[in-house]
Amino acid sequence: MIPQLSNYDEASLEAAFATLSDEVRQQAAELKTTEAQENFRLNWLGRKQGRLKLVSDAWLKSAPAEARKPLGMRFNQLKQQIEQALEAPAAAASSATVQGIDITLPGTVRQPGIAHPLISAMHEVVRVFHQLGFSTNLGPQVESDFYNFEALNFPPNHPARDTQDTLQIAGQQVRPSRDRLLMRTHTSPVQIRTMIAQEPPIRIVIPGKVHRNDAADATHSPIFHQIEGLCVGPDITFSDLKGTLDHAMKSLFGSAVKTRFFPSFFPFTEPSADVQISCIFCGGSGCRKCKHSGWIELLGCGMVDPAVFAAVTAERRRVNPDDDAYDPAKIAGFAFGMGVERIAMMLHGVSDIGHFYSGDMRFLEQFA
Ligand code: DAH
Repeated sequence: MIPQLSNYDEASLEAAFATLSDEVRQQAAELKTTEAQENFRLNWLGRKQGRLKLVSDAWLKSAPAEARKPLGMRFNQLKQQIEQALEAPAAAASSATVQGIDITLPGTVRQPGIAHPLISAMHEVVRVFHQLGFSTNLGPQVESDFYNFEALNFPPNHPARDTQDTLQIAGQQVRPSRDRLLMRTHTSPVQIRTMIAQEPPIRIVIPGKVHRNDAADATHSPIFHQIEGLCVGPDITFSDLKGTLDHAMKSLFGSAVKTRFFPSFFPFTEPSADVQISCIFCGGSGCRKCKHSGWIELLGCGMVDPAVFAAVTAERRRVNPDDDAYDPAKIAGFAFGMGVERIAMMLHGVSDIGHFYSGDMRFLEQFA
């Protein structure tokens, strides 16, 4: 109930309202249900029997004139406190208690990303060659005809260009053909860029995106990824090439894997070879994946063609006329190139290349 106010001085008013305010605060902390809120509201604000009405009757009406103002101010403050408690019962409660933290609620789950399966396959291949002392180089996707074709011994109008049709950058007819820009069709142009910039010995791998006018199907995409390799030094032989690739394939696919080399053709290598590995699905006995041959073709390679060293030398001599770092009589090298998608498909048993580009989380989450 409402005590009688014996005195209207500041201290008495302060004490009387502090008692009421404490009561409001304690009750506000308990307003967990709408029913409790309604009872609270009636108890304090009820028009006939509400405690504010009683306070007003008991204190305000009989107050001496000079006490009206301080009394009225405190009365209004108390009323505000009650109204606020009704607007935000939880906030009023938490300011009255310690802090409303419920430690039994589940935490926020963090979902860290993972490398895309193509990127991680790329990293795996690069890592194998890093262990053999290779370093990494990158080059531009918009490439000139010179680096993408000419220096790699694809002369203008040579039929070998037909297998690597690509997008040409528009409006370049005024330029000499060697300077015309296109989307690179392979990572091999970075071989040329590296040799022009760097003296032998060279051991590099070059991962990157390449572009071709190929219709998309289960194993082709007009944009895909390659990893190129280049090793140049005074005594590099075909056995170095065989040993290096055999080791790399065993590191990637398991030590039981065998390799074999078939004669092939690339304009920038001579001799050239296609490398096959024994089928990792059937162990070589023959299955659907290897078309019952027991072997799967995985990459191209060969010994760097002297015509490539000659093109590099001509370019280097524009800067230093005496340069003979890549004199074909003194230097030799091997090169190789492989498709990242094909390797990732083999490593993970993926049957359609399109999955890699679909952005479908159900596919991607399998690699998390
Ligand atoms: N650049 C070739 C292609 O895209 C792949 C290749 C074959 C690269 C043989 C090489 C190599 O370095 O020696 O078809």
